[in-house]
Amino acid sequence: MLNTPQTVAIIMDGNGRWAKKQNLPRTAGHKKGADRVRDIALEAKRLGIQKLILYAFSTENWKRPEDEVSYLCKLPGLFFNKFIQELMDNNIRVTFAGELEKFPENTKAVIRKAVNQTAVNTGMELCLAINYGSQRELVLAMQNYANQVASGQRENDIQEQEVNELLFVQENVDLMIRTSGECRISNFLLWQIAYAELIFTPTPWPDFDEQALQQCIAEYQNRDRRFGGLSNED
Ligand code: FPP
Repeated sequence: MLNTPQTVAIIMDGNGRWAKKQNLPRTAGHKKGADRVRDIALEAKRLGIQKLILYAFSTENWKRPEDEVSYLCKLPGLFFNKFIQELMDNNIRVTFAGELEKFPENTKAVIRKAVNQTAVNTGMELCLAINYGSQRELVLAMQNYANQVASGQRENDIQEQEVNELLFVQENVDLMIRTSGECRISNFLLWQIAYAELIFTPTPWPDFDEQALQQCIAEYQNRDRRFGGLSNED
């Protein structure tokens, strides 16, 4: 029987190159990219994926020019204004992973509002990784754990499951996709992808449509996931 990955993570790369190719400003690529978030979230829900984690803003993205950072900060507002009703209609719950504090007040407010408004939904979880970096996530987890041990709240006996509980994203990722041709992970979910299948596609994110997602799922279903053991045929 073909199995659908439960948790899928996507590095949405290539917005800038897509825009440049059409003589458009980089922000036009991000705008089109935000529309793709809607298409892919709805398709992922339809396919039975339970959690979709999208890398929308990394801890390194603050290094970009001020006008681009400012546009990226406005994107959640533009996105939710346009699509919150469709997310509600499709029973999709919005969450986020990362440190929100650094964002402007209005960006934080629209994200919190979307999280609260969709909290009742029981279908797929759409998790936006924003101001997220995996190494930072692990440092925060270690600080948190060390503080709890030092104050006597817990024993110094940490196991894999307790590490999970200290992270922004607690699920193991089944499938990670990166668009636009680069073959690297860029500080995304390093702990959670321990046994993930990885797919690198040349398609830039603004062109990554429903069919492209279906193809990735089909490729995942053809892989032989052994988790360090032997396959059924061995
Ligand atoms: C990487 O492409 C993309 C980003 C840094 C931003 C990704 C954000 C979106 C797709 C929209 C987010 C949507 C919501 C709902 C917040 P790049 O700019 O690095 O492209 P390049 O490598 O071609 O320059």
